[in-house]
Amino acid sequence: MIPWVKSIAEVRQAVGEARARGLRIGLVPTMGALHDGHVHLIERCRAAADFVVVSIFVNPTQFGPSEDFTRYPRTPELDRDRAASGGADLIFGPTAEEMYPHGPNSTCVEVVPFAGIFEGAIRPGHFRGVATVVLKLFSIVEPDLACFGQKDFQQQCVIRRMAEDLNLRLSIQIVETVREPDGLALSSRNRYLDSDQRRGAVVLPRALKKAQAAVAGGVRDAERVRQILHDTINSEPMAQLDYAEVVDAETLGVLTGLEAGRTAVALLAVRFGATRLIDNAFLPE
Ligand code: PAJ
Repeated sequence: MIPWVKSIAEVRQAVGEARARGLRIGLVPTMGALHDGHVHLIERCRAAADFVVVSIFVNPTQFGPSEDFTRYPRTPELDRDRAASGGADLIFGPTAEEMYPHGPNSTCVEVVPFAGIFEGAIRPGHFRGVATVVLKLFSIVEPDLACFGQKDFQQQCVIRRMAEDLNLRLSIQIVETVREPDGLALSSRNRYLDSDQRRGAVVLPRALKKAQAAVAGGVRDAERVRQILHDTINSEPMAQLDYAEVVDAETLGVLTGLEAGRTAVALLAVRFGATRLIDNAFLPE
């Protein structure tokens, strides 16, 4: 069984010993409820690092007051097995008191350009919570490398920008999204969907595929691509669209046209009852 430590002192001790042996340290931050997408992230980290720490912390500061913090799935035994199967060497699972001894909002990091758009507009304060906890994890573990999923596209923009703006000495690796056989992106929140909603949720990857096919077929007008996303999502009666946009992959600025040399990505957020799903796909150049 791989060790599961709760205190900052213990994780620093273990990582310090690994570093003294000349090992390259990798970190995979998670909130637990690990699925095959997380395992893939751990495997990727393991391939690029010699000693992999997986953090498991359901971070209260990134949940809004009406969000699912208390009912967020917690599956520690399964998580331990899954982390080990991906090749993790250590789990860091702190308490909120260990992470926030002066309370959760004592010092915060805000990555300003991304704070109030898309997920940030719908979930005020969410990315401040994410950036702050991730910077704390970086400073506790001091990894050479940290891995994040493309699945949470805006989150990886926030983290990459924070690392750049604050001159952090680590490399950030972005890992492609792991999907169910029908295309639905794996997510801890998929378990909230009932069987009808689960069947309907395939409309997200379907819309992204149609958008990619249109661009591959020569469509250059971003408004046309946006319309394809909207029409496809709206064809599913259970789906309620929060947003469907075509944006610049670096700045998340909304695009009017697709041009060579500029990477575009389609972003989706769709609700099925109380469950919000997000997904995204790069559009072919
Ligand atoms: P969590 O939702 O547990 O996700 C942890 C990591 O797994 C993130 O980098 C996320 O993008 C990645 N991930 C999720 N679903 C994936 C999939 N289907 N395929 C590949 N990777 C996937 O994201 C968070 O936790 C938190 O915000 C965190 C960064 C840990 C800060 O609290």
